[in-house]
Amino acid sequence: MNLKGRNFLTLKDFTPEEIGYLLDLAAQLKEDKKKGKTGDSLKGKNIALIFEKPSTRTRCAFTIGCIDEGGHPEYLGKDDIQLGYKESVEDTARVLGRMFDGIEFRGFLHENVEKLAKYSGVPVWNGLTDDYHPTQILADFLTLREQFGELKGLNFVFAGDGRNNMGNSLMIGCAKMGINFTCLAPKSLWPKEELIEQCRKYAQESGAKLTFTEDTDAVKGADCIYTDVWCSMGEEDKAAERVALLKPFQVNDELMKKTEKDTTVVMHCLPAVKGNEVTEDVFEKHAEVIFDEAENRMHTIKAVMVATLGEK
Ligand code: CP
Ligand code: NVA
Repeated sequence: MNLKGRNFLTLKDFTPEEIGYLLDLAAQLKEDKKKGKTGDSLKGKNIALIFEKPSTRTRCAFTIGCIDEGGHPEYLGKDDIQLGYKESVEDTARVLGRMFDGIEFRGFLHENVEKLAKYSGVPVWNGLTDDYHPTQILADFLTLREQFGELKGLNFVFAGDGRNNMGNSLMIGCAKMGINFTCLAPKSLWPKEELIEQCRKYAQESGAKLTFTEDTDAVKGADCIYTDVWCSMGEEDKAAERVALLKPFQVNDELMKKTEKDTTVVMHCLPAVKGNEVTEDVFEKHAEVIFDEAENRMHTIKAVMVATLGEK
């Protein structure tokens, strides 16, 4: 499998085999790291980390992943560069592409990460946009593999804002990998029809079943219930409206009982607003898996950089 020179903007651009390869590579890198073994695949490579929005996990994962492999990361926060207001995204991309070997972007508009990829001439990795968060999905799937052995055939429920970056990206990833995906959300927050249609095609290939529902009984038989904040970064003004709309979809004891299983795991990309999308109690019961997931951000992001930019 050769992914050298590829961008990582959404999972739409990757085949199930390529996603599987990135997960295998991440598992290998994780095993190595646990033995105290790091690599030099990114030796001599300089990596720009552009952050328009704040981050704990993604920033740290790119930084540590890069340094572990011998590369040099450079953080460019929102007040450090003048992306899109004093200097166009196209020009910034052309400048950074002359100096850096790879660029990570976290920000608002998805079209900006596409522009960076188009104009920089180096691999660009999406560290979250308003629409997609693909590196998170790799960490989630590595965690699911660790929990269940295999992805295909798992029953996965996403409860919350079904059309945010996580709802969209989990649907794409599940549809590609043959995971039965249920979006449990008010109809107004189901993913956009165009994306659903696209995912139905992936699902046809993989055998995944896609379900969109407002009925909490749909969690019956779930292997995983996944949730995310009700207001994503940049949507802080929607807080009251979202709480009212999403309260019935909170991941709490009552919802967990409806799975009629005692092996169901709860996952969350973090950061969490406990008392909103998940109760403190349920969160703590599943904390081990949730923090495995957070750790796996680093191993999977390292795999993306090594696969697309590394020397080996
Ligand atoms: N899950 C995630 O992307 O976390 P950060 O916002 O801290 O990077
Ligand atoms: N939907 C969340 C994800 C955070 C990792 C947000 O965009 O804020």
